[in-house]
Amino acid sequence: MPTPHINAKQGDFAKVVLMPGDPLRAKWIAETFLSDVVLVTTVRNVFGYTGTTKNGKRISVMASGMGMPSIGIYSHELYEEYGVETIIRIGTCGGYQQGIRVGDIILAEGACTDSNWSEQFALGGTYSAVASFDVLLAAHEAAKSLGKNVHVGNVLSADVFYDYDKTAWKKWADLGVLGVEMETYALYCNAAVSKKRALGLFTVSDSFVAKEIMTSEERQTGLVAMAEIGIATAERFAE
Ligand code: HPA
Repeated sequence: MPTPHINAKQGDFAKVVLMPGDPLRAKWIAETFLSDVVLVTTVRNVFGYTGTTKNGKRISVMASGMGMPSIGIYSHELYEEYGVETIIRIGTCGGYQQGIRVGDIILAEGACTDSNWSEQFALGGTYSAVASFDVLLAAHEAAKSLGKNVHVGNVLSADVFYDYDKTAWKKWADLGVLGVEMETYALYCNAAVSKKRALGLFTVSDSFVAKEIMTSEERQTGLVAMAEIGIATAERFAE
């Protein structure tokens, strides 16, 4: 049965889904790294593909859109309606720490947030959203074996990209948060609710400390490395 936001059939998705934010990036990953690719969903041009890796594993790639409401919708439908067991978000993030350079990889061991996503649980406390350790470990091994600079720790999943307060990031940085993106907290919460696996894996595209921004060449190289790490990780959880 199609869901409100995905028009694939049952069985169209693999057990593991790589999830970039951008639908055209999902298309590029599918066309560049997979064979026998099938386009399985097109609602709102949020494309999803299933194909086979060069090591013969069946994986899917589908865009999440931007922000927690968007990834919250797609990850929920994939986990709950399409039998997906593992979602690996791949994307870019801003770097908050001195030793983190543009082009480095960050693995989100945990995610903080300034959103009220976890208010729905009415916990009377603060929910710490964490990655699935086995997926984190597999991604770390993949990043190391590709010779990448990889950092593991907390990220901030922010609701606001263009902040009114230009210095607010410094408080998060002071608490050791490695970088900022906009989706992982909701993904980790959905994985927890659905008893599934999730990981956020990022290329650092800009630095709040060094005021560095990626060149278009660095962006492309970073993208390839991230896709390769994502696929190597996905293969470990695929059929
Ligand atoms: N903020 C939020 N998300 C991001 C950023 C940023 O500065 N850079 C890349 N993704």
